[in-house]
Amino acid sequence: MSPARISRRGFLGLLAGTAAAGLTGCGASTTERSGALLTSRLPLPRPFTVPLPVPAIAEPGADGTYELVQRQAKLEIIPGTRTEIWGYDGTFPGPTFDVRRGKPIRVRIRNTLPVPTSTHLHGGVTPAEFDGYPTHLVVPPRLTGFDPGHSPHAAHDQSVWKLAAERFTHEFPLDQQAATLWYHDHRMDFTAPQVYRGLAGMFIIRDDAEDALPLPRGEQEIPLLICDRAFEADGSLRYPSLDPTLLKQPGVKGAHHQGVEGDAILVNGAPWPEKEVAAIRYRLRILNACNARRLDLRLDPPPPSGAAFVQIGSDVGLLGRPQRLDELVVASGERADVVVDFAAYPVGTRVVLRNHLGTGATRDVMRFHVTRRAKDDSAIPARLADVPTPSPAQAVRRRRFDFRLSGPGPHGKKWMINGLPFDPAGAIADPALGTTELWTLTSDFHHPVHVHLGHFQVVGRNGRKPRPSDGGWKDTVDVRPYEVVQILVRFTGYRGRYVMHCHNLEHEDMAMMANIDVV
Ligand code: C2O
Ligand code: CU
Ligand code: CU
Repeated sequence: MSPARISRRGFLGLLAGTAAAGLTGCGASTTERSGALLTSRLPLPRPFTVPLPVPAIAEPGADGTYELVQRQAKLEIIPGTRTEIWGYDGTFPGPTFDVRRGKPIRVRIRNTLPVPTSTHLHGGVTPAEFDGYPTHLVVPPRLTGFDPGHSPHAAHDQSVWKLAAERFTHEFPLDQQAATLWYHDHRMDFTAPQVYRGLAGMFIIRDDAEDALPLPRGEQEIPLLICDRAFEADGSLRYPSLDPTLLKQPGVKGAHHQGVEGDAILVNGAPWPEKEVAAIRYRLRILNACNARRLDLRLDPPPPSGAAFVQIGSDVGLLGRPQRLDELVVASGERADVVVDFAAYPVGTRVVLRNHLGTGATRDVMRFHVTRRAKDDSAIPARLADVPTPSPAQAVRRRRFDFRLSGPGPHGKKWMINGLPFDPAGAIADPALGTTELWTLTSDFHHPVHVHLGHFQVVGRNGRKPRPSDGGWKDTVDVRPYEVVQILVRFTGYRGRYVMHCHNLEHEDMAMMANIDVV
């Protein structure tokens, strides 16, 4: 019997309660489920009936500082219905940052929401005080006097809390290569519902090395923030919080503690949109911003010749060389920077971007309509960037982290790392600045593992080579049930306290997080 089968049996034995019910629920096979489906209570639109929106570009104020006001807004997400969201500048997604390597920026967050927030630049090499640590909160005026001390994950040590009244200004040095990053809420215990309500946006870093390449640009470059949501009959966002005020008890109901998957797929905030394209190359910066849903993206129909996608970049930068793929697996938090050449299709073709892990309508993501020919000056060079070949011999230290549902402990069964729930007062590892470590990650379910500050390369999956889409510098890796994934992680930039966590946001909120002290 394979070790995987033994551990699976052990795992199902452990899951006698609610989670097992969801795990064996409808739809895709149990090992491919990455959350529990939440169904909308209003009729959803037909796919491909709304145009693809592209978020506005963030602009700095007169003093050179960007300001994002977190506020409530009512948007028409489902045609004919109003949905209240919590957004950066009242938009969902938030404005896209389009910034340059080596040009530091300041971003002031002003919180007018009914809850505290914390804002994290995902993929950023950021000093710890500006990284959006989960207990560093911006408290809105209406919650003056807010006492966070009730949190079950931090009740014992009050010193972990740092509260800013109404505003906080982040400084992002941006001393890192061109990449597709994103920013989102990171509040302790409530990240999942706060991102779900709209607190997420794209953050693009450019540099001279990338500008020198003939990659598609301008109109031929499109960010695609993909997420899933469910709606109540009145148009509001449906989410199974135990405490919908998000002020007291964290957590979600029943089987949803596996992760929340909505039945509406949104791209840049629009349900199953359509984009008209010319028969030329487009660079698509794909972000999986779903709380829990994994994506296995393909084009339908596939191009008559050539690969569907040419991957040029991963989470935190360009690949060394382009990688031709027909299938793109993107877990929560991961990015795939790809080029699609619509010249492969006759004008008039409608090409659907599908998620082969979805069922029914959630199998569709969006559609491209090839409407005309055009001149294309772009090309994909054979060499994109200098990415060193990872060598485990560089590792000065080995560590192992097991991502599992553990317990029962004092707070019942929880998603934990090495059997420990998140403790903001203690650290699970203390890598030295400037060194490389070899980490082994194991799991009992789908756990997209994300490391703050440290960027890594995947060096092995289950004792074999990584998969084709694992290449390049990453900050998040898709770890499937009973997989053993090895990464070579390098900590550069800053000393201080950072976190590592599962990017299934429900798991993150339910304690699957740990401090990493970079010393
Ligand atoms: Cu995208 Cu710590 O998160
Ligand atoms: Cu991050
Ligand atoms: Cu997880």
